[in-house]
Amino acid sequence: MTQTAIYPGSFDPITNGHVDIVQRTLQVFDQVVIAVAFNANKDSAWFTPDERTEMIRETFAGVAGIEADAFSGLLVEYAMRRGATAIVRGLRAVADFEYEFQMTMMNRHLEPRVETIFMMAGESHFYTSSRLVKEVVSLGGDIAGQVPDCVVSRLTARAETHR
Ligand code: PNS
Repeated sequence: MTQTAIYPGSFDPITNGHVDIVQRTLQVFDQVVIAVAFNANKDSAWFTPDERTEMIRETFAGVAGIEADAFSGLLVEYAMRRGATAIVRGLRAVADFEYEFQMTMMNRHLEPRVETIFMMAGESHFYTSSRLVKEVVSLGGDIAGQVPDCVVSRLTARAETHR
């Protein structure tokens, strides 16, 4: 039986920290659905859900077992619809813990049949985040190595409109 994991997030944009988590997840699951969460009414993202999904597809072009999708509404309902065995989240340092703990407990309350599991990011990605990458690029800093190559030029171009 195919074991599918949902890897949800804002992915605004995908970073090399996310890529690291996906690669680790692929060692445990047959199929990883990278799911871009969006809120149609309130979304302050730099990139549209379509743009975010497209960057993920480009990043993993040719890699088997990966699907990129976008969803709105409750994550656990999406996970059930997709027949996923688990939700995967990445953990960096201690600061992530409380937020992740709350979400996991709420999701478990909403849908006890979906388990959340955590992957530790590699140490070179402990400080990488989409939020910081956007801040750095909008202040003219170098973000090479922090995001996939196909994301760099899109981020730089989008930063022009967010200065
Ligand atoms: O990358 P992020 O922004 O930390 O991801 C947060 C995300 C998308 C996983 C979370 O906001 C989410 O699950 N959103 C979907 C709506 C939902 O189910 N909310 C209740 C979560 S307890």
